[in-house]
Amino acid sequence: MEKQRLDKIIASTGKWSRREVKNLVRQGRVLVDGLPARTAEEKVDPETVDITVNGEELTYRRYTWIMLNKPAGYLSATEDGRGKTVLDLLPQELRRQGLFPVGRLDKDTEGLLLLTNEGGLAHDLLSPRHHVDKVYYTRVAGRLTEEDCRVFAEGMLLDDGLACQPAGLEILSAGEESEAYVTLREGKFHQVKRMLAQRGKPVLYLERVRMGNLLLDPVLPRGDFRFLTVEELEMLKNS
Ligand code: URA
Repeated sequence: MEKQRLDKIIASTGKWSRREVKNLVRQGRVLVDGLPARTAEEKVDPETVDITVNGEELTYRRYTWIMLNKPAGYLSATEDGRGKTVLDLLPQELRRQGLFPVGRLDKDTEGLLLLTNEGGLAHDLLSPRHHVDKVYYTRVAGRLTEEDCRVFAEGMLLDDGLACQPAGLEILSAGEESEAYVTLREGKFHQVKRMLAQRGKPVLYLERVRMGNLLLDPVLPRGDFRFLTVEELEMLKNS
């Protein structure tokens, strides 16, 4: 792989800014193949050298994969002149890496959103041919019924002409308001909301909790992010 500046490589982990890396190098706390780095600008091949920062070995990844627990109020976009985007929830160093959201959640939808700069795998995950299940927790107005589950499973034809693939509806509670998990293999614009609205049960709250085999980390606070582990990335590839 092409050589890159040490500060860029270390900052790409999102744990330190380039300025912090400079200080760490000055303090002799950055080692390259066991020897203190001389400057933060030094160029090395991140795939062939061992880098340690504060005694911690750095695992370099060519691509960045991030799990974000999206809060309401943020657009799933990289740029928006008017509103806040999910990229605003990341530190500057990560924003520089060309990350984009893997698919979209509506502005008011919360939960699991992946961000990456690896176009190929992101594309595969979104392609309907790959059948990656997306699971949403929802709270709706009105009583969900077994009939709703049956209609979802058959594949709905929406009044606006959208033919939906068979989808899962698992009722968690039913009353004046109901709760359920909805499982989709596709991701058309406002799809969960449109399907439930057609059943006369408008969505009050929507949160994505799973994509393929990857669950939203239950201890990741809303608005926070973390890197995917190697195992999680493998799991996604096998989803
Ligand atoms: N379906 C919706 O209606 N909204 C989302 O954000 C995701 C799926």
